[in-house]
Amino acid sequence: MNDKQLVALQAAKYVKSGMLVGLGTGSTANYFIAELARLQRDEGLKITTVASSTISAQNAHSLNLPIVALEHISSIDLYVDGADEITPDLTLLKGRGSDLVKEKLLAKAATQFIAVADASKLVTHIGQNFVIPIEVIPFAWQLAKKSLETIGGVGHLRPNAANDGFWITSHGSYVLDMKFDNSLNASDLNTQINNTPGVVEHGIFYDLTHTVLIAENGVVSKLSV
Ligand code: 5RP
Repeated sequence: MNDKQLVALQAAKYVKSGMLVGLGTGSTANYFIAELARLQRDEGLKITTVASSTISAQNAHSLNLPIVALEHISSIDLYVDGADEITPDLTLLKGRGSDLVKEKLLAKAATQFIAVADASKLVTHIGQNFVIPIEVIPFAWQLAKKSLETIGGVGHLRPNAANDGFWITSHGSYVLDMKFDNSLNASDLNTQINNTPGVVEHGIFYDLTHTVLIAENGVVSKLSV
């Protein structure tokens, strides 16, 4: 069993019958979804799920997990998702794909949000290993980029896979991939990006995570603030 699978199985221990559970997106979240399906099949777990992406919804559906649509929920009991970076204060960088809007909605709506990852995701500051994905309304991208440059952002519109156009998220946004000066802490950066007109959402998950489970060489540790 690899570390991603191990940590996902650990997170599944927080799931109890009757819960409405948010499903994250990515390879670690997929192990969690598979474990929920196993618990439902083999141990009679009775839950309802809500997915952060079409791919996770399809995955859950194919495994016979009951799913409700995001527009029908007002809160959830538990959300479990992976991350690209995790800092000591449990700020996350997420959304390498195209689904960070739903991911952040579910993280905020959850009574408990557990981030799950292997130790390669631990960093000292946000933006250490990855650019910050910032979803922008397509017609606003130039103005949003200009505003973000005035607070020290450097970056570009993410190209599509064929490199002949721009990446479109599942919500029809463009993505600005930007790096920022390290002197801006995650709290300030989160506020400044939130305050930028034209920005739909961004990948800094500040003050949303309750617990982080990290697996390293077969051992899981729990981080809480
Ligand atoms: C997708 C995410 C993922 O959770 C993040 O990219 C981690 O993925 P993985 O579990 O495959 O390493 O934020 O938007």
